[in-house]
Amino acid sequence: MTGAQPIGIFDSGIGGLTIAHAINKMLPQEHLIYFGDTAHLPYGEKSSDAIKYYSIKISKFLIEQQCKMVVIACNTASAAAYETLLDFYDGKIIFVNVVDPLVDKVIQNGYERIGLIGTKATVNSQVYKNKIKSKVQKAQVEQLATPLLVPMIEEGYYKGQVSELIIKEYLDRPEFKNIEVMLLACTHYPLIKDYIIQFFDGNVEVMDSMDVTALEVQRILNEQNILNHKRQYANKFYVSDYTEGFDETAQMFYGKHIDLVTNSIW
Ligand code: DGL
Repeated sequence: MTGAQPIGIFDSGIGGLTIAHAINKMLPQEHLIYFGDTAHLPYGEKSSDAIKYYSIKISKFLIEQQCKMVVIACNTASAAAYETLLDFYDGKIIFVNVVDPLVDKVIQNGYERIGLIGTKATVNSQVYKNKIKSKVQKAQVEQLATPLLVPMIEEGYYKGQVSELIIKEYLDRPEFKNIEVMLLACTHYPLIKDYIIQFFDGNVEVMDSMDVTALEVQRILNEQNILNHKRQYANKFYVSDYTEGFDETAQMFYGKHIDLVTNSIW
């Protein structure tokens, strides 16, 4: 591997652009190749076998693009497929998931009363809960699947009364009354982070995977001595299925306009 090779990033769709954006901000000299599997989203409603199959196929595409690392920029795919990808590619490439950096941060900060919201697949996998409890046995992790939030945000309802109402409906429950931290275990939720902070009146820390994942990418590249020092090519953003609506949503998640290129690997 050399520093000049690109970093591959994938997600079920365009939500993973929040992670790509954080990586680009922290490491602007890196060349990114993003793949959003818009043909199969949402992963949150899929079986773990289906998610594993998609993740293997997308990683193959990114490896063929000479990527030096693959970032699984999706909580659902990180929960379902990370171990499978490690086994399947057997050290051929570095994989980074979005779960471990967040779990490590929560533990470093000493939190023990933890709330979590994510897709059905992420919550049902119990990955966050198991990882946290394997390190801090007495930690309490209260999880809730919040499936309305992804379509709500994608439809542009991430500000205003509709989103406030749905967020309140999900968060206003006894199991979240005593938490110290709320984990946003989904790529889309950083867009509604302010409302969640507001819901808890600033009394609960609200954490997402964006910056901690970017820091982990930086740490590994630095450790392996494969940081890029000058980007030669423009970042590329592929989707497996394209509709005009994705353009607008992509801008919302990445913070600026990007050109989405259709690449049907299926
Ligand atoms: N990217 C997914 C995640 O972070 C959310 C969207 C989906 O369900 O595909 O869990």
